[in-house]
Amino acid sequence: MERIYLTTPIYYINAEPHLGHTYTTVIADTLKRYYQRQGAETFLLTGTDEHGDKIAQVAKENGMEPKVYADRISAIFRSTWDACGISYDHFIRTTDSYHKEVVQGILQKIYDAGDIYFGEYGGFYCFGCERFYTEKELVEGKCPDHKKEPTYIQEKNYFFRMGKYQQQLLSHIQSHPDFIRPERYRAEVLAFLREPLEDLCISRPKSRLQWGIPLPFDSDYVTYVWFDALINYVSALKFRGEDFFQTLWPWANHLIAKDILKPHGIFWPTMLMASGLPLFERLNVHGYWVMESGKMSKSLGNVVRPLEMKERYGMDAFRYFLLREMVFGQDATFSLDSFVARINADLANNLGNLVSRVLAMQEKYFAGVVQPLGGVWAKEDQELREVFLQAEKDLKRHMAEFYFHRALEAIWGAIDHTNRYIVQTSPFVLIKDSEKRGRVGEILHHLLEAVRVTAHLLSPFLPETAHEIGKLLGLPQGTSSHQSSWGKSFLAGHKVKPPKVLFPRIELTAEG
Ligand code: MSP
Repeated sequence: MERIYLTTPIYYINAEPHLGHTYTTVIADTLKRYYQRQGAETFLLTGTDEHGDKIAQVAKENGMEPKVYADRISAIFRSTWDACGISYDHFIRTTDSYHKEVVQGILQKIYDAGDIYFGEYGGFYCFGCERFYTEKELVEGKCPDHKKEPTYIQEKNYFFRMGKYQQQLLSHIQSHPDFIRPERYRAEVLAFLREPLEDLCISRPKSRLQWGIPLPFDSDYVTYVWFDALINYVSALKFRGEDFFQTLWPWANHLIAKDILKPHGIFWPTMLMASGLPLFERLNVHGYWVMESGKMSKSLGNVVRPLEMKERYGMDAFRYFLLREMVFGQDATFSLDSFVARINADLANNLGNLVSRVLAMQEKYFAGVVQPLGGVWAKEDQELREVFLQAEKDLKRHMAEFYFHRALEAIWGAIDHTNRYIVQTSPFVLIKDSEKRGRVGEILHHLLEAVRVTAHLLSPFLPETAHEIGKLLGLPQGTSSHQSSWGKSFLAGHKVKPPKVLFPRIELTAEG
């Protein structure tokens, strides 16, 4: 893999960043760091989706112009990702002028090719969802999401001949088994494609909706939300020039949750086909985070906010929980109890204790000075190194599938082994025998290597912790050195730092 272009959805600005947005953004960041470490060229895009009825309405309720309101909320998203250490390369806003130009260019192209036509449409419109519903989709005559009766609207609009590309999309998905993954979402899109695809309404009359991008061929209309939003993935690259686009676009990996599968799995590829652009490489779909107490909502007061989590427990602890708890593709439950249990067990105990124990012994027995390794390694020393080699192989395999939880399990398997190695070799007993001092020095040397490689493996997932461990080890490039250099990365005489608590145990109070 030489390149990867990772995208998150561009988030609506009618809600502030929460657990759900953070999850997608954190996995995008983890993947970026992971591929970057492999030497790949990476690009990570995130941003905000700012047009549409909903935004115009909320802005009005707040007595603001839509753009002023959009500036404010978009800035909250951006500063949240900055504070969370998300290594995005570009933050796009659908109100950016280069984006509007690209959208208009694509619309014009498709219109000129005859795949956009003007027609009359009548249907049940839900203002909450900003979309029309077919009668079949309504539940007891109401929008299944907002539980409100939709309004019947009859109006003239522009339509995209989506149905024309149905067959082409079907064959692409069939001949590219990895185009949409995991499999269950690929199957879901294939099921949609078993029914004839209707053409897609892509506009709203300006008399009803002002806050959007005007159609280049009819100034009385603006584009409808998806035709504007999806194109962001292309315009963000085009902003840096056509060459940049050509280089990265074939490697596009979209990350989304299942809620927006249809627009990404059907609208988007057919739009690309109609505009003569190549398809993205892969659509990666994850499940939904649900709260133990029910749906996350402001009214229930159970919204999990990334900055609060970061301030209370540290960003790496939050990242760890998100990545370890959810099986990519399936839903997961968030509760403070399970969060605390995981952090205490895996981070405070297994990882934190290992690092402290090793550094404490190094400090106590050798004043922090690394001792030389003998020419011949004991069986358990060889085994320790091999366990890490295996963990790295397993991690690679799981990352290719986006199985972050398994990748972390692989690292923790090696951490557990290292803790057992300490018990097995018992340097704390050997040190009492002055003739065994040399052996204790060797054991600790191997343990420092294990800690170094642990930090290296952890760095895409827990970047701050990896950096912190790198500093404690006092290695010039932090954790970047590879494990093939096991036994060669610490020069004799090198001094490591005394231990430090990486993850304090969390004691829950009544308020959480
Ligand atoms: N603006 C559109 C996306 C346009 S992309 C061209 C949109 N925005 S959104 O703000 O509603 O974001 C939806 C996305 O946020 C989901 O696909 C997912 O990435 C993330 N999540 C929001 N809530 C979530 C959960 N409860 N669980 C997991 N992810 C969720 O749709």
